[in-house]
Amino acid sequence: MGLIMGSAAPPVFALDLKAPPLAPLAEDGIHDPKGAAIGALQEPYEAMKDFPKDRRGEVDWVRTLQEGYIKPRKSLTGDPWEEAMPMEMDFDIIMKHTMGMPWVRFPHKPHTQWLACSNCHPKIFIPREGANDISMTKVLRGEYCGRCHDKVAFSLFVCERCHSVPHENSPPAWWK
Ligand code: HEC
Ligand code: HEC
Ligand code: HEC
Repeated sequence: MGLIMGSAAPPVFALDLKAPPLAPLAEDGIHDPKGAAIGALQEPYEAMKDFPKDRRGEVDWVRTLQEGYIKPRKSLTGDPWEEAMPMEMDFDIIMKHTMGMPWVRFPHKPHTQWLACSNCHPKIFIPREGANDISMTKVLRGEYCGRCHDKVAFSLFVCERCHSVPHENSPPAWWK
């Protein structure tokens, strides 16, 4: 399980790994390194250097949005009836099947600032509290939260951003 035992060295966990540095545009596998635009576009590390970062050094997009560093457009056309329009909604679901980990607080607000209800309901989550049989193994395999987290949303290695509600049986954070 990534844990080295039986030596004098302290246990080694993979959890405190820093996020890899941002690739320059010419090496990101998306932009054409020979294209004319490559010299004109701002490099990501330059564009994002003042954005708030999380514990792993990755951009914290929730704070970046809330603190006004960016103001993304809600749709391509601006038509309020466009399909899959985000509609902000502020309510949390607390998930308690977390064993010794703090409970998971699922907040609708930071999701619905970027996503439409139909991005999650009903295909990924039945919209009823407790109706989805979620587990960490499934999330790590890319189901439920793992459809986005570790892909287009923050990494699964920052446990505390999801497991944010301590309870009497959760020990102090060992994963930080
Ligand atoms: C993107 C959110 C998210 C992150 C990040 C996350 N978890 Fe979870 N975790 C969940 C959800 C959701 C559940 C299921 C909760 C429920 O069904 O009540 C869960 C459940 C668990 C459980 C309970 C047992 C099980 O298999 O379901 C453990 C233990 C756990 N997580 C450990 C971790 C650790 C350790 C980390 C960091 C390395 C982590 N989690 C990061 C969302 C997350
Ligand atoms: C990022 C995914 C995501 C998005 C986007 C999202 N939800 Fe949810 N929603 C969830 C999850 C996860 C739950 C909890 C399911 C569970 O407990 O198993 C939930 C639960 C619900 C519930 C059930 C509440 C209850 O008390 O039973 C309703 C209603 C709901 N969502 C409506 C919406 C609406 C309306 C929108 C758009 C404004 C929306 N959701 C956007 C993930 C999402
Ligand atoms: C459809 C994609 C999607 C799914 C599915 C999804 N998320 Fe997210 N989540 C996002 C995005 C996008 C953000 C905001 C950008 C970011 O933080 O990377 C976000 C932000 C969050 C935040 C806010 C963190 C903060 O610092 O305020 C939490 C907590 C979170 N997600 C937990 C979960 C949990 C738990 C689940 C599963 C029950 C889940 N998410 C499922 C896309 C998703």
